Amino acid sequence: SPSDPDLVERARAAKEKLGDKVFVLGHHYQRDEVIQFADVTGDSFKLARDAAARPQAEYIVFCGVHFMAESADILTGDEQKVVLPDLAAGCSMADMATAEQVAECWDVLTEAGVAEQVVPVSYMNSSADIKAFTGKHGGTICTSSNARRALDWAFEQGEKVLFLPDQHLGRNTAVRDMGMSLEDCVVYNPHKPNGGLTADELRGAKMILWRGHCSVHGRFSLDSVDDVRERIPGVNVLVHPECRHEVVAAADYVGSTEYIIKTLEAAPAGSKWAIGTELNLVRRLANRFAPEGKEIVFLDKTVCFCSTMNRIDLPHLVWALESLAEGKLVNRIEVDKETEAFAKLALERMLALP
Ligand code: 13P
Ligand code: SF4
Repeated sequence: SPSDPDLVERARAAKEKLGDKVFVLGHHYQRDEVIQFADVTGDSFKLARDAAARPQAEYIVFCGVHFMAESADILTGDEQKVVLPDLAAGCSMADMATAEQVAECWDVLTEAGVAEQVVPVSYMNSSADIKAFTGKHGGTICTSSNARRALDWAFEQGEKVLFLPDQHLGRNTAVRDMGMSLEDCVVYNPHKPNGGLTADELRGAKMILWRGHCSVHGRFSLDSVDDVRERIPGVNVLVHPECRHEVVAAADYVGSTEYIIKTLEAAPAGSKWAIGTELNLVRRLANRFAPEGKEIVFLDKTVCFCSTMNRIDLPHLVWALESLAEGKLVNRIEVDKETEAFAKLALERMLALP
């Protein structure tokens, strides 16, 4: 839908008034009305790396979700303030692993006598607390664009990995990219005593997957893949690794949002694509590449936005920018110092991956 011209004008004016004082980051899942004001767009890895790219900017306005804004705060200096235009923009997957649950899990691993062999690897989609836990226990953060490299690194440090909180990214990377078997993976359920696992199961596993998932990507099914292949002969199925294992196994290409964009940029005219990721991005890509003769459709028949990403809309962005332009700091995301120190350790291990 076209953006309200009055709000567009107000956002432009506030941004102009702020000049170099503000740096706007936008995740690829953001609405068109918001993404047009981003100085940089990217997947979660690129945005984490670029957050520190403008040290002269006093304010970083993060158009994305809470864990991304926290990561930006961790990776930037104290004098840079990170603002999330709507504090309710969380991530249901990140909420599936709390600090208490993860501490309890570590006790279970210790009881079973395996904790010493375990290296935690946490997906970027986790709270700063979980990142700090990861750093404290010698682990690293990963995103969907470097999960393979993070796991390779982790298996050089220890024999087992505790993968938090997305079971699908963990399983897909281990099985599809690294040749492990499904039997090498067990799922730790934080809502069951001992995670629902016996000590023997923990001892036998290589990958201990946290029972978390993305509800947006969880909507895609093997049926959606079969269905689109039948409807569009010759279609290439391209999905995000947060999709379930059977979907990823049936797809032709798998990767992060940035990878999805790069793949479509390189695709020949006349090619056909079904994309399994968030709908704002898929619609934008379909519109962008239609004139080049690339046919791009959404993998599922039902609509599938990320409702928390969508909370950042133009009215919230205008409010944040106008407040900052008036010298009022609103919606600051600030991680406490102790959490920050350990979380930073884990994030820096990721940034140092080969
Ligand atoms: P990427 O942009 O890193 O692929 O991540 C997708 C996502 O779900 C972020 O929440
Ligand atoms: Fe979280 Fe899924 Fe939304 Fe990404 S798409 S922010 S993983 S709920």
